[in-house]
Amino acid sequence: MESIAVYNQKGGTGKTTTTINLGHSLALTGKKVLIIDIDDQGNDAECLGVKFTKSIYHLLKGEATFEQCIVNARKNLDLLPSDETISQVALEMVGWRNRENALKKRLEGIETYDYVLIDCQTGLGILNENALNFCKKLLVPVSMEYLSVKGLFKVDRLIYDLREDFQKNLKIDLIVPTFVDERVKRTKEYIDFFETMDHFKGIISPYIRIDTKLSESFAHGKTIFEYSLNSRGAYDYIQLCKRVLEGI
Ligand SMILES: Nc1ncnc2c1ncn2[C@@H]1O[C@H](COP(=O)(O)OP(=O)(O)O)[C@@H](O)[C@H]1O
Ligand SMILES: [Mg+2]
Repeated sequence: MESIAVYNQKGGTGKTTTTINLGHSLALTGKKVLIIDIDDQGNDAECLGVKFTKSIYHLLKGEATFEQCIVNARKNLDLLPSDETISQVALEMVGWRNRENALKKRLEGIETYDYVLIDCQTGLGILNENALNFCKKLLVPVSMEYLSVKGLFKVDRLIYDLREDFQKNLKIDLIVPTFVDERVKRTKEYIDFFETMDHFKGIISPYIRIDTKLSESFAHGKTIFEYSLNSRGAYDYIQLCKRVLEGI
C-alpha cells in the first residue's frame, strides 16, 4: 500500500483538486484507492457528490471503525469523509496521549488499498501531523504565487522538525506546480527557481495548468474525467497519475 499526504500550509494551492483527480485517475487504472479528508471544510464529499452519515470525527473519537465511516464514491474509489465536526476532535486531541499517532492507530488494518491519499488541512495543527505520521509519502501542490511557494519552504521546515521527533524518513517526495500559466512571467520564474534548486532535484512533477473546467467540475460533484475528459486539466492530472504510478 502506498500512502500519500497532499499538503501545503497555504490554502487554495490545489490540495483538494489534486487529491480528488489524482485519486480518481489512479482508480480508473484499476488501482484500489481511498481518499481520506481531514479538512473541516469537508470538500471531498461535496466534490465527489457523495452523502455520508459517519465521518473521520467518529473514527478519531473511537465511536466507529474505519469500515463504518468509509463510503464508496466511484468504482475502485472510496472516501473517508470529513466535515466541520473534525475541529472539535482536534481540540480534544490536545489532551490525548500519543495524539500524533491517533489516526495511524485507528487505521490499523486498512492495508487492502493500493493507494491512500490524505487531503490535508491548510495550516499546521495536530490533524496534519497525524496525516504526516501515517503517510509514507508527501506530495506538495504549489500554486504559482509567493505565499504558496513560501508554504513549500514551511512544509520543508515542519517535516524537518517531525523527522527529529517521529518520522525519520519523512521528506517531500513530489512537488506539483499548480495554476501554471506559462505565459505569465512570475510562473516561469518560480518554475525555473524550483528546477535549479538542488534540494528539489528530480521531485518536480508534470505541471497542472490553470483550467476553469477543474473548478466547474467540482460544482457539479464530478471529477475532471467525468466532467471534461478532453480538458487541459484531465490531461495534466493523467500525467501526474503516470508519475505517481512510476513510484514517487
Ligand atoms: N489548475 C486549476 N485551475 C483552475 N482552478 C483551479 C485549479 N486547481 C484548483 N482550482 C480551483 O481553485 C480553488 C482552490 O483549489 P483547492 O483544490 O480547493 O485548494 P486547497 O484544497 O489547497 O485549498 C478551487 O475552487 C478549485 O476548483
Ligand atoms: Mg482543500
